[in-house]
Amino acid sequence: MRILGIETSCDETGIAIYDSERGLLANQLHSQISLHNTYGGVVPELASRDHVRRIAPLLAAAMRQADLEPGAIDGIAYTAGPGLIGALLVGASVGRSLAYSWGVPAVAVHHMEAHLLAVMLEEDRPDYPFLALLVSGGHTQLLEVRAVGDYAMLGESLDDAAGEAFDKTAKLLGLGYPGGPYLSALAENGRSGRYSFPRPMIDRPGLDFSFSGLKTAVALVVKDLKDANEQVRADIARAFVEAVVDVLAIKCERAIKQTGINRLVAAGGVSANRQLRQKLKRMAHETGGRIFYPRPELCTDNGAMIAYTGYVKISAGQREPLGFAAYPRWRLTPV
Ligand code: KG4
Ligand code: ZN
Repeated sequence: MRILGIETSCDETGIAIYDSERGLLANQLHSQISLHNTYGGVVPELASRDHVRRIAPLLAAAMRQADLEPGAIDGIAYTAGPGLIGALLVGASVGRSLAYSWGVPAVAVHHMEAHLLAVMLEEDRPDYPFLALLVSGGHTQLLEVRAVGDYAMLGESLDDAAGEAFDKTAKLLGLGYPGGPYLSALAENGRSGRYSFPRPMIDRPGLDFSFSGLKTAVALVVKDLKDANEQVRADIARAFVEAVVDVLAIKCERAIKQTGINRLVAAGGVSANRQLRQKLKRMAHETGGRIFYPRPELCTDNGAMIAYTGYVKISAGQREPLGFAAYPRWRLTPV
């Protein structure tokens, strides 16, 4: 079975083709970073318009890369949420219409479910059940994954998402957009122990997160700085990354102990972070567990994870009616 996946939830247009026997046949991505960079963040209307501009050429490029004719596609999956409504509607309308005109089924995919299943595109993948730490620009969630579609929310951020904290802190340090990769690169040159930031929520029981106070702590330090030279900024970045990574690792360790499940998947944009990957690996090793990651380019937004999730759903018989909808907010688990 070959499924075409379409991702347009935010600032990346992604189109991929997944073949259940041969794996990924095409994976095309257009990033809008240069478009939004001037504004220091995503401008929703510009994002929607750029998806409209890019989606058809990207689709053609994916079909060329896979060397396929339209008749070879068995189904279409599109991200239906959560995300920016205008951006989502581009992928949903193109995906649903293509499926109609090609006479194949369509499925609406939850963006965060796709992030958590992206690891299944790797050779090294976990058996069910496993725990999943989802850390993206809009969400920080710790889930118990019992089977595909059977998820329990163990904890989530009460305010800013981890990626949002990276992006806002990067802005405070005068770095570009999206701040996560810049901030983590700057932190590599920082000296450990020069600054220390709080580890929010670790002394409270439970598995929820809070990151907005951390960003405020950085803001206070930056405000009082007399000389914000490159080394000082790197030291601050280092202390920030260490605090975020510590909190995430402590909560994951707690979840492993609480559930007795020692397979942990980390996914979503922030899981591309090298410091986080190292720390979780060490933590898993010490607790006798195992950590699984998608390769970095499948951690950030992409069409491949949508195509794979679509394959799982379509092969289980799921079908979308002819109408379609997009959901800017969409819970992965029942409230
Ligand atoms: O999953 P993703 O691509 O999009 C959303 O679903 O939100 O995640 C984007 C987030 C951004 O906040 C970005 O700054 C962050 O992931 N990010 C990183 C790294 N790469 C991307 N944060 C820290 N270190 C990185 N290497
Ligand atoms: Zn994402």
